[in-house]
Amino acid sequence: MIEIKNVSKGFGEKEILTNVSAVMETGKTNLIIGTSGSGKTVLQKCMVGLFEVDKGEIIFDGKSLTNMQEEERKELRQQIGMLFQGSALFDSMTVQRNVKFPLDMFTNWSHAKKMERVNDVLDRVNLKDTNNKFPAEISGGMKKRVGIARAIVLKPKYLFCDEPNSGLDPQTSMVIDKLIHEITKENNITTVINTHDMNSVMEIGENILYLYEGKKEWEGTKKDIIFSKHEKLNEFIFASEFLRDAKDMRMLEAKGIIDNDRNMEQILRDGGASLVVDEGDKGNPDK
Ligand SMILES: Nc1ncnc2c1ncn2[C@@H]1O[C@H](COP(=O)(O)OP(=O)(O)O)[C@@H](O)[C@H]1O
Ligand SMILES: [Mg+2]
Repeated sequence: MIEIKNVSKGFGEKEILTNVSAVMETGKTNLIIGTSGSGKTVLQKCMVGLFEVDKGEIIFDGKSLTNMQEEERKELRQQIGMLFQGSALFDSMTVQRNVKFPLDMFTNWSHAKKMERVNDVLDRVNLKDTNNKFPAEISGGMKKRVGIARAIVLKPKYLFCDEPNSGLDPQTSMVIDKLIHEITKENNITTVINTHDMNSVMEIGENILYLYEGKKEWEGTKKDIIFSKHEKLNEFIFASEFLRDAKDMRMLEAKGIIDNDRNMEQILRDGGASLVVDEGDKGNPDK
C-alpha cells in the first residue's frame, strides 16, 4: 500500500499538485487518470522519489519516503519496478541484455541464475524466443512487453507504469493492460498506472484517482464510474456520444434491465425491425 498524504508540488511560482491525498492499494491496479497536463507524471515522479514534494508525505507500507535517508531510499528503489513512457529500452542492447540489466546492476547472482530469471520473465510476457533481437527489430507491443519484463525482473513490490498504452493500437493496448493486471494479481504488487485511455479505465480500473488541474477531483472504481454523475469525470471518460451510449448500456446491464449477452444475430438479420415492433405487431416491419 502506498499512501499519498496532502501532497503539493510546484515548479517555481507554479503549483502543479495541490493537496493530493489517496491510497494505492496492494494487489490492485491503481489508476491515476486525467487529461494531459493534469499532473499524473509529476505525481508518479513524487511517489518514486524522482521529485521531492513541497508539502505532504509519501508512505510505502508504513515507511515514509519523504523522511527516508539515502541508504534506505536505495533499498526501497530496488523494490520498485518502472515501465517508462515509450518503453525506454537501450537500443544498442538485445532484448535479453535489456531485461538482464537490473540484475547486473543490483544483484551478484551467477550468470546462470540471472539467465534463468531473464528467461522466466520473458516467458511470462510471452516473448520466449526474442532474446537476441534488438529493440528496432520488434513491434511496439513487444517493446512494451520487454519493458514490463525488465520492470518485474527484480520481483518488485511496487510497479509504476506511465501511459503504458501510448502509441499502441486498441487491441495491443488491451493485451498490455491485461498483462499488467495479471502480473499485479499473481505477485500481489501495488501497481500504479497513469493513463488517459478510457478502455484501460473500464477494463482494469480497480482503484481510480481522477486528477483535474493538479487536484484530486474524484476517486472510485470502474463500477462507480458507470453510475457517477460527476460532470467533469463524465466529460473526460465518456467524451463522445458513442461512449455516452456505452455508459447507458452498462448501467442498464448492471441494473438487470437488459441482458447484454451481445447476441445481436436477430437484430442484424431483420435490420432492426424487431427493435421497434412489439409482440402484437409482429410481421409488420413498416410500422
Ligand atoms: N520538470 C518540470 N518543470 C516544470 N514544470 C513541469 C515539469 N514537469 C512537469 N511540469 C508541468 O507540470 C504540469 C503537469 O505535467 P504532467 O505531470 O507531465 O502532466 P500529465 O502527466 O498529466 O500529462 C504541466 O503543466 C507541465 O508543464
Ligand atoms: Mg504524463
